[in-house]
Amino acid sequence: MNRRQLLLLGLGAVSGASTLGLGQWLHHRATRAQQARDRTFPVTGTQPLWQRAAAKGITFGASATRREILEDPDLAQRFVEDCRMLVPANELKWKTIRPSATEYQFEVPDAMLAFAQQHGLIMHGHTLVWHNSLPDWFAETVNASNAEQILVDHVQTVATHYAGQIRSWDVVNEAILPEHDQPNGLRKTPWLEFLGEDYLDLAFRVAHGADPQALLLYNDFNLDFAVRQDERKRRAVLGLLERLTAKGVPIHALGIQGHLSGAQVPHFDAEVMRRFLRDVASLGLKIFITELDVIDKAFPADLSIRDRMVAAAYEDYLSVVLEEPAVVSVATWGFSDRYTWLNSFHPREDELPVRPLPLDENLQPKLAWNAIARAFDQAPPRDPNRGETQQE
Ligand code: XIL
Repeated sequence: MNRRQLLLLGLGAVSGASTLGLGQWLHHRATRAQQARDRTFPVTGTQPLWQRAAAKGITFGASATRREILEDPDLAQRFVEDCRMLVPANELKWKTIRPSATEYQFEVPDAMLAFAQQHGLIMHGHTLVWHNSLPDWFAETVNASNAEQILVDHVQTVATHYAGQIRSWDVVNEAILPEHDQPNGLRKTPWLEFLGEDYLDLAFRVAHGADPQALLLYNDFNLDFAVRQDERKRRAVLGLLERLTAKGVPIHALGIQGHLSGAQVPHFDAEVMRRFLRDVASLGLKIFITELDVIDKAFPADLSIRDRMVAAAYEDYLSVVLEEPAVVSVATWGFSDRYTWLNSFHPREDELPVRPLPLDENLQPKLAWNAIARAFDQAPPRDPNRGETQQE
């Protein structure tokens, strides 16, 4: 293997890696660990991440829970320094804001919005329609005859409550799952069961009616790698976006969650990703990276290697994704390793704490921070009018 090939591997652009035999794959993995050891992530200047992003017409932010923002002042302060957008991680989900089929409670997300506004942050809404995080009453209450009214009431009430204040919404989250073998690759959810595919159209139309200024997203995961599962998912998501835009449904952007599994990083194919982003953009849609983090389960325990591999995953991914001018927003899912969903959802076998985010558990920037900074610094500038997360 020559130096250029090694470099390409380090950049993650291994076309056809999915066809490698196990021996070769293990060899590549060892090579990647070796390379990560040698990789440095120098950064120039002292600007925070949001400013580096803004210089290119991109919004940078992160998700946070109420605990992080309202009860951990040190985290909150670091958050505000680097972020320009706040995404409540759980606080706008049905489970939090719907105590019953007729009631809404907005105190917690309202407090997060007040924090955002005090600190000059914009807020991204997550999420109006999802099959997950539903309250206990949902299964007992919702049926084919009331589902439409319950969905409309929810989207209408929540989007109206935040009209003019939440700039962009994940209107529908994770509606595609080709493995469920439904028409058009749709995921089996109560909404699909009771309302058919048109529940998506309905959610977007009602959200748009309630807040015509808000930028409306369809958001999903497993869109990043050149593996069969992601290929099917990309195809189905593109199909959905084509149908929605062709029908004139008010959808403005695709949200790519970007939970990057370290085990799949060798299967990142820059050309496959570029083509997907171009296809989405050609429908007239913007693209947000909505939930970026790096699942470090498959990486060695040694921090000096692990942190470099996480950083490499960030930089290799973002440097490709940010070439596409339709990508106007990047958010990480959490900001410090002090709080991350991955300790419970994707724990390491050695039970060491995971390190998926830009700051460590002591709120110190890691190489992942540098990697993100470098990707923004190297990104081509986009049309400044497209950078704001506002509908044109
Ligand atoms: C996760 C939160 O981070 C956890 O705190 C919660 O227990 C479960 O949900 N994709 C999504 C997010 O769209 O809503 C999920 O957030 C992470 C995966």
